[in-house]
Amino acid sequence: MSTTIEDRVFLVTGANSGIGEATVLGLARLGGTVVMACRSATRGEAARQDIVRQSGNSRVSLELVDLASEASTRAFAEAFQRKYSRLDVLINNAGLYTAHRNVTADGLEQTFEVNYLSGFLLTHLLLDLLKKSSPSRIVNVSSRAHEGSTIRSRTSKASAVTADTARTVNRNSRRSCSRANSGGASKGPASP
Ligand SMILES: NC(=O)c1ccc[n+]([C@@H]2O[C@H](COP(=O)([O-])OP(=O)(O)OC[C@H]3O[C@@H](n4cnc5c(N)ncnc54)[C@H](OP(=O)(O)O)[C@@H]3O)[C@@H](O)[C@H]2O)c1
Repeated sequence: MSTTIEDRVFLVTGANSGIGEATVLGLARLGGTVVMACRSATRGEAARQDIVRQSGNSRVSLELVDLASEASTRAFAEAFQRKYSRLDVLINNAGLYTAHRNVTADGLEQTFEVNYLSGFLLTHLLLDLLKKSSPSRIVNVSSRAHEGSTIRSRTSKASAVTADTARTVNRNSRRSCSRANSGGASKGPASP
């Protein structure tokens, strides 16, 4: 059964600023239900109200998630599935760049967890809902900045595992971007 844009549910992470906010505004103007996944209630709600005002679409909602925390990402995915019966497009957009090494409460380097691992985990947790809503799309907004660096770890085993994970995430990211680019609502990886 075909769905109209008004029936569709879009989820955008890191949606209160930059590329994420612009994406939500564009989708809201098209008339869909758009869920903004943000870590700050204050920044998220300010952006949501602005987008509702500019788009005239009141079906823009805010949900809180801290992608620097595996527990928060898991809790968010569970709550999302209780609230929404479908998910047509998941846009893993949230990301950050820091000049210094920060380690999250999960013991992971912050950029790696927020920009890569949590998007991968969120996709995995929402995959059944995405499949149920087929034809659905996963869009990973990524960066080429990692090309200028290497992954260092304390043990060679950990290093091999981490490098392998990074390669898999990047490969999957490129695949889903190219699928999305050939399939409609899409946004490829931005350049640094
Ligand atoms: N702009 C560029 O030139 C460029 C180039 C290459 C790649 N990119 C990629 O494009 C994406 C968007 O970047 P942007 O330029 O639009 O940056 P931005 O304006 O800084 O937006 C990033 C968003 O991610 C959110 N975020 C950060 N840490 C988070 C966390 N722990 N949990 C949940 N949300 C979190 C931020 O929330 P807060 O407001 O709360 O911090 C913000 O809403 C990123 O993935 C970035 O790597 C951008």
